[in-house]
Amino acid sequence: MKEQIDSIQAEALAAIAAAADERSLDDARVAVLGKKGTLTLAAAGIKDVPKEDKAAVGQLLNAARTVITGALEEKQLAVREAADRAALAGIDITLPGRAVNTGSLHPLTILRDQAIGILRRMGFALAEGPEIEDEFHCFDALNTPADHPARNEKDTFYFDSGKLLRTHTSSVQVRTMESQKPPVRIIAPGSAYRRDEIDATHLSVFNQLEGLYVAEDVSLPDLKGTLEYFFRELFGTETEVRFRPHFFPFTEPSFEIDVKLHAKGQAPRWIEVAGCGMVDPAVFEAISKSRKDDAFDPAKVTGFAFGMGLDRLAMIRWGIKDIRLLIENDARFLKQFA
Ligand code: DAH
Repeated sequence: MKEQIDSIQAEALAAIAAAADERSLDDARVAVLGKKGTLTLAAAGIKDVPKEDKAAVGQLLNAARTVITGALEEKQLAVREAADRAALAGIDITLPGRAVNTGSLHPLTILRDQAIGILRRMGFALAEGPEIEDEFHCFDALNTPADHPARNEKDTFYFDSGKLLRTHTSSVQVRTMESQKPPVRIIAPGSAYRRDEIDATHLSVFNQLEGLYVAEDVSLPDLKGTLEYFFRELFGTETEVRFRPHFFPFTEPSFEIDVKLHAKGQAPRWIEVAGCGMVDPAVFEAISKSRKDDAFDPAKVTGFAFGMGLDRLAMIRWGIKDIRLLIENDARFLKQFA
């Protein structure tokens, strides 16, 4: 029996030594230790060994198994290592790594966040309203008569239902006053929609920021001080700001605000950045009717409102010549704001 075990062991060790990969090594293992492996069968034969030899033969079998198992493990490590080395052979680890492109904030986002930051520090809270509006919130409650050009089908996107895409964020003024009592001090950044011809300064979707402050004794100097401060924080403390009389249906008096722009290589010029005014009492009356109370009684409260185009402000701030750059997502453009 000893010779038999010796030759099984020798054969197994030779097969292990010859194995060049994990698969042939596995074949060698099964051939000797598998269910029908040579050593397994030899071990089964121990029942025919005379009783007095059983212990010695058992020891020989165990010793052979230990040697073979050890050789298998050792060879497996070697085979794996060789496979790893082969896999790495084609890779030049001295090549530079691939650059990871990190994103950055969109200029509009940067500007909007700054505008919100300045106004929040002054006590304005964020408010919002739906982009799909009805005529009451977008026009009627804002003292805009039925024949006003802004309500025209040529200028406004209407749905068959009679609803519309809000043409300005001023509708949020109405929504806020319907749901809150004075004092109200809110800003509402958001999208507005108009059926404009698209060109370098117009898109059919653009971004506005609305503001509204209603309380007892809100005055025109409050409006001027607040907005002058706002534009100086945004564009620099030296910025000149002027209020030019204008007309809006929902404010009286109304103004357009200009800031003086000093673009490199150009003569300074005034550029319009916002509309504003003192809330028209007719608006408070519409709100009172809608609320069915006198919380916004025009005899008790006054207020100011303003609205500005954020796209426009971003264009001024960075000297962007074409508004379409803001929606094209061209990385070459956006990278400049990283
Ligand atoms: N809603 C106006 C527009 O879209 C902007 C505006 C002007 C808003 C005066 C106001 C305001 O709140 O008081 O052109």
